[in-house]
Amino acid sequence: MTLKSTLDRAHPVAEQPLNHAGVDRTSIGKLVREFYAKVRQHQRLGPIFAREITGDWEPHLEKMTDFWCSVILKSGDYHGRPVPAHLKLKDVTEADFEIWLALFRQTAAELFAPETAAVFVDRAERIATSLKLAMFFRLAPSATAGGQ
Ligand code: HEM
Repeated sequence: MTLKSTLDRAHPVAEQPLNHAGVDRTSIGKLVREFYAKVRQHQRLGPIFAREITGDWEPHLEKMTDFWCSVILKSGDYHGRPVPAHLKLKDVTEADFEIWLALFRQTAAELFAPETAAVFVDRAERIATSLKLAMFFRLAPSATAGGQ
């Protein structure tokens, strides 16, 4: 499952770049940095990220800025694969996604006008749903084998 196929299926108009005032790589970079500052301080999520990102955070923050610029501005900057990156996180639960989304909603509301924040949150919720499906649910063998 690629990010593009996920978004195409979830939301046909997702291919349009968002054209809201004040939404550019600079403001998206600020969102990413302030969001991960909250994540790193959180008592449950902080240690999960600290185990995975042991050195310099800068490459992760740049990658996540590329990711959000691709999602929101259709910049094409991100070429990674989110699903495998999360499948290897064995101690993450569905409840952790609620914490992640709450921190993301809070950060978006602090930085953007409500209608702009709502677009970021909508995309985050859709992608979180795709990641949760990949991480916590398995298709029945008949479905994967092409059965009815
Ligand atoms: C509880 C929820 C989540 C946890 C604990 C989590 C944790 C992580 C960690 C530890 C990494 C770094 C993996 C690595 O570098 O090896 C990562 C990467 C990433 N995460 Fe999450 N994540 C969560 C939810 C989300 C959500 C909801 C999104 C999108 C809306 C997202 C998007 C990404 C992306 C794009 C990457 C980079 C993947 C790559 O290309 O390497 N994550 N996440």
